[in-house]
Amino acid sequence: MKRDFISITDLSCEEYNDILVLAAQLKRQRYADIHHPLLAGKTLAMIFEKASTRTRISFDVGMYDLGGHALYLNSRDTQLGRGETIADTARVISRYVHGAIMRTYKHETITEFAKYASIPVINALSDREHPCQIIADSLTLKEKFGDLNGLRVAWIGDGNNVCNSLIMASVQTEMEIAVATPKGYEPDPTAIRFSQENGGKILKYDDPKKAAADANAIYTDTWISMGEENIKDMKLDDFDGFCLDMPLLKRAAPDAIVLHCLPAHRGEEIADDVIDSMQSSVWDQAENRLHAQKAILVRLIGTEPLTRE
Ligand code: CP
Ligand code: NVA
Repeated sequence: MKRDFISITDLSCEEYNDILVLAAQLKRQRYADIHHPLLAGKTLAMIFEKASTRTRISFDVGMYDLGGHALYLNSRDTQLGRGETIADTARVISRYVHGAIMRTYKHETITEFAKYASIPVINALSDREHPCQIIADSLTLKEKFGDLNGLRVAWIGDGNNVCNSLIMASVQTEMEIAVATPKGYEPDPTAIRFSQENGGKILKYDDPKKAAADANAIYTDTWISMGEENIKDMKLDDFDGFCLDMPLLKRAAPDAIVLHCLPAHRGEEIADDVIDSMQSSVWDQAENRLHAQKAILVRLIGTEPLTRE
């Protein structure tokens, strides 16, 4: 049976760790200019309803690095934008390519596509999750600290897609996730329940200072996610006091790193002196999207893909 990667929960602990090990290996090889065409002859469809810099470029370059080909499809330019059903599109695209990544407004669009596709489908960000981001972030944390187990990661800001994936990944990573959000912007309760029922440790606060205390990493994301531009003013008010600034960073462990999935809105969710500080790992984090996604692609559409009986 083909394997999808739509939620971070789709990977077992062993598979999660295997992808991180492979990502680190592919990174070392790229630095040494060693390229193995592990995806020669494979084509990836990249279906985007929303904008992207990192995800789009890293998947495209990743396929090229591995000897494959990537096909960018803005959903508005396909017949999807004119009403061809998701199911029919999935059936047809499956006849041409070996895998698909999708960035959609609604998570259900990806699950619907995956249901009718006979090829692996990867979530490139939905309203509910951003699993590829969290694999890259795990690689970044592993590089900095060696071991993920027991690290405390503070999430400051909006409890939506990236935060939900981080919370659920605590099952595989065994990191403690301390989340501080304004009221009304808490993470998906099903993500918290999933984590807690499977041994994850999630702590919820409404005070960013409490979440940040002694953290090994402080992570934030834009307050205005794609599609929320019409409620920007309301959200800027609601998130007052949740900026990741230098006083907040000083509450974390002295060697704590700063994470941001990017794009950043400097002066809103993160201060310039924090994102540009020596403690900022955001550029490594962005680079690691490439290495992590190459590992995901090899495992999903390579010659020996992960399978589930
Ligand atoms: N972090 C992330 O997914 O960035 P893009 O929106 O630029 O792809
Ligand atoms: N929460 C953000 C993440 C962007 C990578 C959004 O959904 O726009």
